Amino acid sequence: MNVFVTGGAGYIGSICVEELLNAGHQVTVYDNLSEGHRSAVDPRAKFVQNSLSDAASVKQVLQKSKAEAVMHFAANALVGESMANPGKYFRNNVASGLNLLDAAVECGVKKFVFSSTCATYGPPDRVPMTEDLPQRPINPYGESKLMFEKMLTWYQRIHGLEFVAFRYFNAAGASGKYGEHHRIETHLIPNVLKVALDQKPHAEIFGTDYPTPDGTCIRDYIHIADLAQAHMLGLAPGTQGFYNLGNGDGYSVREVIAACEKVSGKRVPVVEQPRRPGDPPRLVAAAEKARRELGWTPKYPKLEDIVTTAWAWHKAHPDGYPD
Ligand code: UFG
Repeated sequence: MNVFVTGGAGYIGSICVEELLNAGHQVTVYDNLSEGHRSAVDPRAKFVQNSLSDAASVKQVLQKSKAEAVMHFAANALVGESMANPGKYFRNNVASGLNLLDAAVECGVKKFVFSSTCATYGPPDRVPMTEDLPQRPINPYGESKLMFEKMLTWYQRIHGLEFVAFRYFNAAGASGKYGEHHRIETHLIPNVLKVALDQKPHAEIFGTDYPTPDGTCIRDYIHIADLAQAHMLGLAPGTQGFYNLGNGDGYSVREVIAACEKVSGKRVPVVEQPRRPGDPPRLVAAAEKARRELGWTPKYPKLEDIVTTAWAWHKAHPDGYPD
């Protein structure tokens, strides 16, 4: 298929692009490089640097690519930042995303695959979390993704645009070539591995008074290669709807730090900090729907294996991407 990928220079997008190309698809990457890296784009893909806020450009490039499918990764995705700058999240994730949706309809795209998030649920009534739980986000990031989900539902009903929206839990790990490099790193695993690489003196734990067994937040970490696999399956004609992507196992911040110590063989000193605004205490997926309906089977269900791939990438790229 011809696949148009927004955010293909970013962490999750770059690895999905690699997988798409390995599977024989033709890929056009559209990315403004505000978060992504040019060198994270597989050289086999066509690359266009521009922003989704430029509606005319999106439509023109999409048309030229003869895209049959769109994968939409481009977004701002930091819970903490969204609590300080909500406008950035609604503008980029909702308003600019709408330009892409309109272009997809106008260009006759057959399938739209959207990167959504478990942050759309907010603190869940129960875990593991199924797709039918109420969505009550507690930060503008989750709200912006929920708004896009709703737009997708209406575009499907009114324009017949077939979509799959994946609600990622915590993406982690690396492929051999591509890994996690944010210019300002806020995520837990890369920050802890920086300590193991002697690039930071200590790791920080945001909140030790949560209602969890060790007082720190619990998350469900999912390998990016497994996320990418779900995206390949989502391209099949007839697949439609919302799917959680996670392993169904929750790990606390302290457990993640312990796994990083074990994998790296380095001791990681920690400093306990207050809670970070907008963080739900516990998010764990029930992803049976994706397994059942898409035939999705994660290859890296164990946290230690996920961290092992991340550690290999960070050791090989201690300064991340050059650009
Ligand atoms: N944390 C620390 N120390 C750090 C970094 C993070 O204690 O140095 C804590 C956070 O407070 C949180 C947990 O570790 O409790 C995980 O934090 P991350 O920043 O790694 O990930 P988030 O859960 O905040 O968010 C990520 C993505 C979102 C996505 C979300 C789904 O950034 O896009 O997972 O849970 F929506």
